Parts: sequence; structure tokens; C-alpha cells
Amino acid sequence: MKKQIKYRLIGSLQISGDKSISHRSLILSSLAIGKARISNLLESEDTLSTVKILKALSIQIKKDKNEWIVIGNGTNGYIQPAEALDCGNSGTTARLMLGAVSTNPIFCTFTGDKSLSKRPMTRVTDFLNSIGAETVLTNKDYFPMTINGAEDPLPLEHRITKASAQIKTALILAALNVMGRTSIIETRKTRDHTEILLKYFKVKFKISKQKDNSTKLTFNGPYEIQAKNIFVAGDPSSAAFFIVAALIVPNSKISLKNVCLNKTRIEYIRILKKMGAKIKIQKDRIRAGESTGTIQVEYSKLKAVNIPKNLSPYLIDEYPILSIAASVAKGTTKMKGLEELRYKESDRIKSIYENLKKLKINCSVKKNDISITGSAVNPRGGVKIKTFGDHRIAMSFKIVELICSKQLNFDDLECINISYPDFNKHLESIKIENVL
Ligand code: S3P
Repeated sequence: MKKQIKYRLIGSLQISGDKSISHRSLILSSLAIGKARISNLLESEDTLSTVKILKALSIQIKKDKNEWIVIGNGTNGYIQPAEALDCGNSGTTARLMLGAVSTNPIFCTFTGDKSLSKRPMTRVTDFLNSIGAETVLTNKDYFPMTINGAEDPLPLEHRITKASAQIKTALILAALNVMGRTSIIETRKTRDHTEILLKYFKVKFKISKQKDNSTKLTFNGPYEIQAKNIFVAGDPSSAAFFIVAALIVPNSKISLKNVCLNKTRIEYIRILKKMGAKIKIQKDRIRAGESTGTIQVEYSKLKAVNIPKNLSPYLIDEYPILSIAASVAKGTTKMKGLEELRYKESDRIKSIYENLKKLKINCSVKKNDISITGSAVNPRGGVKIKTFGDHRIAMSFKIVELICSKQLNFDDLECINISYPDFNKHLESIKIENVL
């Protein structure tokens, strides 16, 4: 295995568009009426799966220079597709599009890759069945599946007990074409990009806090939404890889521009700050309703932290890279209540544990809790890393590689294209040979 040249990370980066907002921009524009131009859309395998599916549902979408143009057909405008709707690796495409088609009277077959076909769908379809859609799943929970959209979907009250923005958004998208009042109650708040984008579109709905601290969304459909241009803010979950990179590589100082600063997405920055990270945030402007700004980071000595279970919905995509920060932090970091990580693109508890073990980092798993004791010396590296086809695992271990004495040998890095095709290019652009 090749010895590593020593680098530090210096400079500034424009992070690619946010994955969650990109999916929502495409889908909501398809449900609006008229033409929308979307700028800074993330062009990754996941978001292109959404584009392909919308096209199969007869939505006109094309790229024009740096913008994506979507001609919306209204909330009842999808036409029965002639082919199966292939969601590839994308759980967000799957769950959101199931909701969107469920109140259009069309018959669709949904498929996905090997990983997606192991991810549970009843968490969404149980709700959709209750409003009148008919779903048939493989082994009662999985893709491939079929859905027959409801002719006259029922206006109901839904209570979501699993903290998942995908479930909530599926129900919101369905509600847009339901005659009457749909209420969606979430017992634990999740990322709210759909609500923010709907407000930006001037859609009228109500958000109210309940006595038991749950949040109730009330929709009175069906809606006619006017198309509007959208600028997609930079992805804070993608920014997290560079933030941790700058924190663990000595003498680094970087700044990340145009990052979405939505509160439900940057909890990991609060955690890193608690660990001793030198991070500064400067808000600058609002993009399609989302607050954005610049994040400055410099190399910091990190210490361990306890991350309680109640924060897991806000850190769900960042646990893999937080595990890398924990690997160099002084003391033992405890991350609790990570059950949902088992149902992501890979079983992320297993993927984190197995790869940290290979790097000889002290890590243990008890049920759904992970403990990691940071090492005072950098990992030797030179070992084989199994990414399990999971983009966030691949990027996290590409970051730890920066401090390994020997390069790592990855079984698959192609999976990075699922959420961040420019990852490598961006990383290379801030690597400066360390002559200090
Ligand atoms: C997403 C929600 C999260 C997250 C996923 C994107 C979204 O999933 O892990 O990467 O865009 O709604 P859950 O909310 O289902 O946990």
C-alpha cells in the first residue's frame, strides 16, 4: 500500500446542492402549474432517479445551460407510466414518489436496486392504504411493489410516531390532491424542507404545536400551486465531510460557501463545537425560503462527547462522519439510540463498526448504541475498507484516509456518485502539500 503524502486543507469551496431540497424542488415543481427554473440542483444518481421517474409520469423536464426546467402538470397531473419506476438506490425518491402518485388514479410499479429492495416501505404504504391507495409489496414490506392510486382519496388525520421526514413528506405530497382536510401529526420534529418550499410557493396550510409537543400540519386540498423558480442551497450533510476533514487534518483552515443552515440539518455542528471544534457560521441570504451562509472551520483538538438518543433524527445522515471525528477525539464518545441507521443505504451501525475495527480504532456496539474511543496516534491505514455500496460510508472513510500513514484500499467508491459526484474534485481542490 502506498505511503501517504501529507496534506493540509486550505481554501474555499462551494458545496453542491442539497439532496433533500433537490428532490423536493423537482417533485413540487412537477405538481405545480407552469414552468419553473431550478438552479444549483444536485445532479447525482439519487436526484437523477427522481428526474427519470417524473419524466416517466409525463412531466417535461430538461436541462438548459446550468438550470433545470420543469413544466408542472398540477397536483392531479401524472399520467400512467408505460414502464416501471426505478428509484435506483434512492430511499427519498421511493418514499416521496409513492406519496405523490398515491392520490393520482394511476397504476405504477416501483423498483429499486439491491439495497433499496431491502429497505422497509410499509412505514409509508400503511398510511397511503388508509386513504384509499392499493399497494402490493414483495414480502409484505419491500420493492418491487405496485400501487394503484386512489380515485377519491380520503381526508384523514395521520399520526407519525417514527421520526422520518420521508414519511411526513410522502403524506404531505399525497394531501395536496386530497379533497378536504388532511392532518399530519409528527410526534418528533424532522427536517422541514417540504414545509419551507410550500410556504415559498405560497401554499396555504397550518402548522400548530400540540399540547403533547407534537406538531400538526393541516392541509385543505386539493391545491393549485403556481410554479416558481428555485435556487437550491448547498448540502449541509455534504459539507459535514469537509468540516470534519479540516478539524482532523493539522494546519487546515477552510471555508464552505452557500451552505443550507436549516436548524434541523446542522445539529452536527453543535455536537462538533461541544467536542471543541473551531467552527464559525455566518448567515448571509435566504434561498427559496432556506437560510444559507458560510461555514469556516480550522484544525482543532477534539474531545469525546455523549450524544443522546433524542438527537438521532437530526444527526441521521451525519453519524458516519461524526464517528470519524470521535476516532481522533480524546476519550470515549457514546452515540445512543441509532436504530434507524440499520435501515439506511447499508446497516450503518455495522458498516461503521467493521471499518473502524479494521483501522484498529476502539469501537463497540451494544444493541443500537455505538461507543468509540479516540486514538492519540493516527491510524496506520493500508487496510481494505468495505463501503457496502453506501455513499456516506465511502466519503467518511475517504476523510479518515487523510490522516492514515498508508492509503486505504476501497472496494467501491463509485457509490459516492449517489449523493456527491463532485466530492473528489472538491477534496482535491483544497488539498495542499504540507511543507510546514
Ligand atoms: C431525507 C430524510 C432522512 C435522511 C435521508 C433524506 C429526506 O430520512 O436520512 O437521507 O430527504 O427526507 P428519514 O427522515 O426517513 O430518516
